[in-house]
Amino acid sequence: MKAAGAECIPIVLPDGESYKNWETLNRVFDALLSNRCERSTPLIALGGGVIGDITGFAAASYQRGVPFIQIPTTLLAQVDSAVGGKTAINHPLGKNMIGAFYQPRAVIADMDTLHTLPARELAAGLAEIIKYGLIRDPEFLTWLEHNIDRLNAREPEALAYAVERSCQNKAEVVANDERETGGRALLNFGHTFGHAIEAGMGYGQWLHGEAVAAGMVLAARFSEKLGLISAQDVRRTSELLARAKLPTEAPGLGVERYLDLMGHDKKVEAGRIKFILLRKAGEAFVTDQYDAAALRAILSEPAMHA
Ligand SMILES: NC(=O)c1ccc[n+]([C@@H]2O[C@H](COP(=O)([O-])OP(=O)(O)OC[C@H]3O[C@@H](n4cnc5c(N)ncnc54)[C@H](O)[C@@H]3O)[C@@H](O)[C@H]2O)c1
Ligand SMILES: [Zn+2]
Repeated sequence: MKAAGAECIPIVLPDGESYKNWETLNRVFDALLSNRCERSTPLIALGGGVIGDITGFAAASYQRGVPFIQIPTTLLAQVDSAVGGKTAINHPLGKNMIGAFYQPRAVIADMDTLHTLPARELAAGLAEIIKYGLIRDPEFLTWLEHNIDRLNAREPEALAYAVERSCQNKAEVVANDERETGGRALLNFGHTFGHAIEAGMGYGQWLHGEAVAAGMVLAARFSEKLGLISAQDVRRTSELLARAKLPTEAPGLGVERYLDLMGHDKKVEAGRIKFILLRKAGEAFVTDQYDAAALRAILSEPAMHA
């Protein structure tokens, strides 16, 4: 296939998280080798986060590294996975366990691709967008409260602004801490609870963004319980997420099950779970210093058993 004078070799991969594995990665290498692709051959990832993560890892390792461009087509990939340089495949024993830090030369996000995105996938992307407002960008949080309906309606100008601002936020965090030794952990706001929900419900039942939305509400309630933010801040968080058509109540898995699931989260260091908490709506911080009773209390609140 020729495009603008350049030869283009399409490699079509099977769809879905269950294919983000070694076999699919090898199909990329098979195609590159059988077409005699060289170290100067750029790889272009066109698709959602699954395609971006596999292609990025293929680019990082083919001939010890070839140039790579991301063209993300889901909202989640546009605001999160395409930016920051984390690439990976899954191993049967763990998600994203085999991978590399490898930056794309460019990320091209075309809002037109979002027209065909299923509504649940759109909302899942909005969860990560709202996350940036909550953790470090209070002005953007207020903008989101005023414009969430425009985003739900997929207005291109509103989407473009939200995508750009999200990428700026992510890029700033990553530039300060590419390999997640400190500040990058803020991007995991709501994710410790969210990963427990995803695993506890069975992978694929809740979309990642849906679990993160309910997880962010839990993180906000936890922050309130510890006296950091007000009940009004918690309401503000859950109302915005609800308006983005996201779940705000975590499933009632039971306190012990939650603690067990969170104990297996990769952000665990030296036995104590780290949490990202809110100091206010628009400012988060990482800590492993908290009252364990407060954690148990928010995990057993009646709302969770509704
Ligand atoms: N590298 C990172 O920093 C990072 C960050 C967050 C998530 N991720 C990874 O990203 C993946 C999730 O990404 P995702 O949510 O994009 O999932 P996905 O890639 O599975 O895409 C979701 C679904 O939407 C379809 N799709 C893609 N674009 C479409 C479009 N324009 N119109 C209609 N349908 C379309 C896909 O075929 C798929 O069925 C996970 O594997 C996760 O681990 C990586
Ligand atoms: Zn996420």
